Amino acid sequence: IAVDSTQYYKEPFRPQFHFSPEKKWMNDPNGLLYYKGIYHLFYQYYPEDIVWGPMHWGHATSTDLIHWQHKKMALFPDHLGYIFSGSAVMDVNNTSGLGTKENPPMIAIFTYHNMEFEKSGKINTQTQGLAYSLDEGTTWKKYEANPIINNTTFRDFRDPKVFWNEDAKIWNLVLVAGDRAQFYTSNNLLHWKLEGEFGQNNGAHGGVWECPDLFKLKIDGTQEEKWVLLVSINPGAPNGGSGIQYFIGDFDGKTFTTAQKEIKWVDYGTDNYAGVTYNDAPKNERVFLGWMSNWNYARNTPTTNWRSAMTLARTLSLSTINGDYVLQSKPVEPFKKQLTTDYSKEKIEIEKGNEKTFVYSKLNQSQIQFNAKNKNLKLIFTNEANDLLVLNYDAKKQIFEIDRRHSGKVNFEKSFGEKIHTTLTPNLGSKSLDFQIILDWSSIEIFLNQGVYTFTEQLFPNQPYTKLIIQSSENQEIKNIYFQSVKGIW
Ligand code: FRU
Repeated sequence: IAVDSTQYYKEPFRPQFHFSPEKKWMNDPNGLLYYKGIYHLFYQYYPEDIVWGPMHWGHATSTDLIHWQHKKMALFPDHLGYIFSGSAVMDVNNTSGLGTKENPPMIAIFTYHNMEFEKSGKINTQTQGLAYSLDEGTTWKKYEANPIINNTTFRDFRDPKVFWNEDAKIWNLVLVAGDRAQFYTSNNLLHWKLEGEFGQNNGAHGGVWECPDLFKLKIDGTQEEKWVLLVSINPGAPNGGSGIQYFIGDFDGKTFTTAQKEIKWVDYGTDNYAGVTYNDAPKNERVFLGWMSNWNYARNTPTTNWRSAMTLARTLSLSTINGDYVLQSKPVEPFKKQLTTDYSKEKIEIEKGNEKTFVYSKLNQSQIQFNAKNKNLKLIFTNEANDLLVLNYDAKKQIFEIDRRHSGKVNFEKSFGEKIHTTLTPNLGSKSLDFQIILDWSSIEIFLNQGVYTFTEQLFPNQPYTKLIIQSSENQEIKNIYFQSVKGIW
């Protein structure tokens, strides 16, 4: 569908370089799959309103994970239910028999949510269904023998992530069933066998588990490989509402095990949820997209025409810090092509109790990068309307705070306008602080020390931010500061 830019993408708060639907409601990313040079993005979509409703799968494609093209809607609800979250693979060897060797099927496996069953209190409200496409994702047929995984036990039973397991030479699928993840195997993507479970005694359980993902990563600088299990949880995130926890461990094709005791989070901000990764991305890159919102207030954010956006596509990597595994995220490489440097400076000294002010008209659509000493640091983003977004780092306590209480429009839901804080463990030690901060009209993404810590927040300033004030209560030294504007994509 051609986008009429005179109508859409000019509204207040509309992200200019993040994916958002042309109009109406969006939530989770679904069916992330790379095939023949194209990154497919499907997503939870309700085409009738800007609040959640009967779920469809919207569809968009990209060749660089930055520029997106809207496509025809992919999946519509049917007599088995709404189309909830799920994933997609290319069945290159036609193991399902739904295509041919010459023209293999693209396969989507998703959750059916049956409203009639829910109303009458039936337990099997959620089952897993399959759809296939023989034209690379343009049109879809539902499999006649749906559902492919039935359910008689769990009220919450959803969000299947399917992938080819090259070690075990088998299709694997992970889904969530209430308070645990379940692992399945199949030879043909149609018949699935439950093999193992994980989680009843692990991780955070402040809410229901959702949107799992499972993949292998090499630990940076070594040959060692570990499996990463992502599990979204709502509520129960460290800063309220929705969040994504992760586990580092092992997976033998049947079940996941870990020695991890602590709870770890992909993002310590409030607005990164239901995030999952691409199947089959080139060079084994592990590319992540999250829904940049939180169920606490997703329905109430002050936008018109459309609701919510995805995070920037991020590359995930694994490293060890002080003997502990840490998942890092950073914007994908092609993002750099969007940047124009408007100002840079090698060194700026801030004397104890002083501040430096940068007036920058494009702050609201920009990337700010710099390196600071591991000492107290405060960043204040402000504008003509005197909105204030305050980031504060307390070096002694190792606490990083984000205060959006006065950041603009905050009253649409009481839990939005809060100050959040994160104790940085693993400790950053004596290492300096490397900041990469990306603003796009209604969001800020902060990557601290190459994404060892990531914070994603929605913001709704009354006027675009135009001024950054850097303060410190100690003698600070800012190195290699860059102010770069980010080109829009629409
Ligand atoms: C996560 C989620 C999923 C579900 C979908 C419904 O945000 O609740 O668990 O499949 O949204 O839209």
